[in-house]
Amino acid sequence: MTVGERPTVGQRPTPGERPRRLTFGALLHGSGGHIAGWRHPSSPPGGQLDLGHHIRVARILERGTFDALFLADVVAIWGHDLDSLRRTARAEHFEPLTLLAALSTVTERIGLVATATTTYNEPFHVARKFASLDHISGGRAGWNVVTSVVPLEAGNFGRDTHLDHPLRYRRAEEFVGVVRALWDSFADGSVVRDRAGGRYYDPAGLSPPHHAGEHFTVRGPLNISRPPQGHPVIFQAGSSETGRDFAARHGEVIFTAQVTLAGAQAFYADVKARAAAHGRDPDRLLVWPVLAPYVASTEAEARARLDELQELVHDDVARRLVQDNIGDVDLSPYPLDGPVPDVGVTNRSRSRQDLLLDLARRERLTIRQLALRFAAVSSVVGTPEAVADHIERWFRARAADGFNISFPNLPGPAEDFVDQVVPELRRRGLFRTEYEQTTLRGHLGLGRPTSRPASVPAEATTR
Ligand SMILES: Cc1cc2nc3c(=O)[nH]c(=O)nc-3n(C[C@H](O)[C@H](O)[C@H](O)COP(=O)(O)O)c2cc1C
Repeated sequence: MTVGERPTVGQRPTPGERPRRLTFGALLHGSGGHIAGWRHPSSPPGGQLDLGHHIRVARILERGTFDALFLADVVAIWGHDLDSLRRTARAEHFEPLTLLAALSTVTERIGLVATATTTYNEPFHVARKFASLDHISGGRAGWNVVTSVVPLEAGNFGRDTHLDHPLRYRRAEEFVGVVRALWDSFADGSVVRDRAGGRYYDPAGLSPPHHAGEHFTVRGPLNISRPPQGHPVIFQAGSSETGRDFAARHGEVIFTAQVTLAGAQAFYADVKARAAAHGRDPDRLLVWPVLAPYVASTEAEARARLDELQELVHDDVARRLVQDNIGDVDLSPYPLDGPVPDVGVTNRSRSRQDLLLDLARRERLTIRQLALRFAAVSSVVGTPEAVADHIERWFRARAADGFNISFPNLPGPAEDFVDQVVPELRRRGLFRTEYEQTTLRGHLGLGRPTSRPASVPAEATTR
């Protein structure tokens, strides 16, 4: 069966095949995904570091049978420089695995996904921490593999400049192979903990990676038994050619920021085809575009919720949003309500720069208008039925297998989504009514990787 022929909801799947079901992750940015979300009157007084707030939100999402909650991360302050951050909540955030370990003790089913960079970490550390979280949470851990987007990270790890993009991905490739081999250090069932016989593990089940490659030399074994899921679920968000190929080889859930249905369909078809070309079952790779929902009982009320946040975008923040994303230009001499000036080629992200400048020219936007468009990217505004329609349309059109929901502020919009949109999706038969499985792999319909026999080397690069 080819990618285009998969069963859709409502169609009867062939025996042995699961019907296609929506899956959902929630992107938890502390006080919300909108740049001004932290200023909303109902946002937590403790800001990004309010543990009680994170617990409340996790429980709301679990009530809504979300597959996972997800923590993005950069190992630096989250911006271009300190000045760009002083009026946002982005200067501080919890270390993701630490927060998820805490949340695992107050939740039972929801998946717990943390971001960890392959550019500024060692594979042993990452393998160990995610294996630990998987054991602590009973098989609910996921790893969002990133190569680091924020150049400021370099300065925290003894480097003047960020590693080049191709080098970052080469390192990532080797990194993931080593982490997987480390997770397989002990074969399933080989840690017997036989108290009566005095045998903790069976040496026949032990296979240390003995890896020596371009970037890493790791003997192993990992000092923790195989994770309950075999391997925690691998998340990825590559968008460049190399990034997409990496995602297609290793990713099991692919995050993507898509603004049009046609663009999302093209991305979906592309990564699934790449996965198939690598010999993978395209159904074992789920595509999750980002969606920022503004939900209320009337369209006007939903629009007012977005407007309320847009009005909280401070002038300095609006200027910096545009400045930081169109290039290394100082916009301070330009009036906020005047046109976006011409900008030459810069060293910043070209695709984002082109996108924003084209939009500003096409629609004759002022600096402020462009900033607000950027702040509301991926928004879907409307009644619960309208938001469910959007989700269903993208799902059926194979633009998405599910969504990474970025709530603009928290906890209100998460509650609205769970209490109003989720029931509508359930009524349509698109989303589960209760958890049927206990692990994140189970929720997502992903198989459990079998453990490598002890005598087989981990990777081709392994000696
Ligand atoms: C929903 C989503 C979440 C992301 N989260 C992070 C993150 O937490 N940390 C990070 O460094 N990059 C993050 N990224 C960026 C991606 O890892 C990746 O670098 C980006 O999509 C560009 O792809 P490329 O590196 O292939 O050009 C995220 C991207 C998306 C779409």
